[in-house]
Amino acid sequence: MEYRNLGRSGLKVSKMALGTNAFGTRTDEATAIRIVHAALDAGINLIDTADMYGQGESERMIGLALKDRRSRAVLATKCWYPTGDGPNDRGASRKHIMDAVDASLRRLQTDYIDLYQIHRWDGDTPIEETMRALEDLVRAGKVRYIGCSNFAAWQIVMANAVADRHGWSRFISNQPEYSPVSRQIEQEVIPACLADGVGQIVYFPLAGGLFTGKYRRGEAPPPDSRAAKQGPRFAERWLTPAHFDLVEAMEHVAREAGLTLTQLTLAWVMARPGVTAAIVGASRPEQVAENVSACEVQLPQEVMDRVTALSEPFTR
Ligand SMILES: NC(=O)c1ccc[n+]([C@@H]2O[C@H](COP(=O)([O-])OP(=O)(O)OC[C@H]3O[C@@H](n4cnc5c(N)ncnc54)[C@H](OP(=O)(O)O)[C@@H]3O)[C@@H](O)[C@H]2O)c1
Repeated sequence: MEYRNLGRSGLKVSKMALGTNAFGTRTDEATAIRIVHAALDAGINLIDTADMYGQGESERMIGLALKDRRSRAVLATKCWYPTGDGPNDRGASRKHIMDAVDASLRRLQTDYIDLYQIHRWDGDTPIEETMRALEDLVRAGKVRYIGCSNFAAWQIVMANAVADRHGWSRFISNQPEYSPVSRQIEQEVIPACLADGVGQIVYFPLAGGLFTGKYRRGEAPPPDSRAAKQGPRFAERWLTPAHFDLVEAMEHVAREAGLTLTQLTLAWVMARPGVTAAIVGASRPEQVAENVSACEVQLPQEVMDRVTALSEPFTR
C-alpha cells in the first residue's frame, strides 16, 4: 500500500480509503466489522464516516471494529447534516460543532478523531466562527486535523485564509465527488487546492458501482446490488446511456491492459493530479480485497491518457 501525505500536513493516509455510509442501513453490524478489519489488514488506514450515516450507526459500528486497533486507523468523520429537530442540530455553528463532536466521540468509543470534516458549506454561519470552533477542538485534543467536504474552490481558499490570519489550524483536505463520469472539480477545486496545500479524498470513485461492470445496458441489476435496492433513483443517476457508452469504451481499454474495469477505474482515479485518496465503499469484505488489488496497478501513461480522453465530456 502506498501512503501519501494528506495535503500540506505530515499525516500519512493510504491512497485507498474505506467508505462506510452503508453501515447501519444496507450493511449489518457483523458484516461492517468484518469489512473494517479486511480493510485494515489490506493496509487501508483511512476510514471515512459521518455522524449522519445510518443515523449514527456507522460511527457506532466502526467504534466496535476499532476497539483493539484504534491507533492503526486514521479515523475521519463529519458533521453538518441534521442530527435532531432543533434549529441548532445542524450546520457548522460553534454550538452544533461542539455538540456533534462529543456525540461522535461517544459513538466511536475514542477520545480523538484524526480528521474532522465539515460535510458542506454553511451559508448561515460566518466562516470565522466555524474555523475558531475547529481550532478549539484541535487545542482540546478532540480532533487532530481538520478538513471540509463538497466545498467550492473559493470557500476552501477563504476558510484557510481566515485560519492563516489568526494562526489557526487550516483545512488539509476536501472531500468531493470524483470519477470518470464526474470530473467537474478539475475546473476550479483541484487547481485551487493544489496551490493551497489541500488534498482531495474523493467519493463515488466507482460511480456507485457502475465501474465494477456489474450493471449492463438494458439488463436488470443483480439482485443484491445497490441499484436493485435503490430502484429508479439509482438508475436515473448512474445507469444512463452516456455512462454506459463510457463504461463499454473503458472495458475495451481494461481488456487490452490486462486489467478489470474496477482496477482500471480506481488506478486512474488514484493517479490523477491532486487526488490523495479514493474512498471506496463495500457491502462485503470480498469487495475490499478485490478493490485493493487496484493499489498495485501502475497505469502506463498511454492508458492514463486514453481514459482521460474518453471521459473528457464529464469535465463540464
Ligand atoms: N462527503 C460526501 O458528501 C459523501 C457523499 C457520498 C459518499 N461519501 C463517502 O464515500 C464513500 C464511498 O461512496 P460509495 O460507497 O457510494 O462509492 P462507490 O465506490 O462509488 O460505490 C461503492 C459501491 O459499489 C459496490 N462495489 C464496491 N466494490 C465492488 C466490487 N468489487 N464488486 C461489485 N460491487 C462493488 C458496492 O455496492 P453494492 O454491493 O451494494 O452494489 C459499494 O457500496 C461512502 O461510503 C462515504 O464514506 C461521501
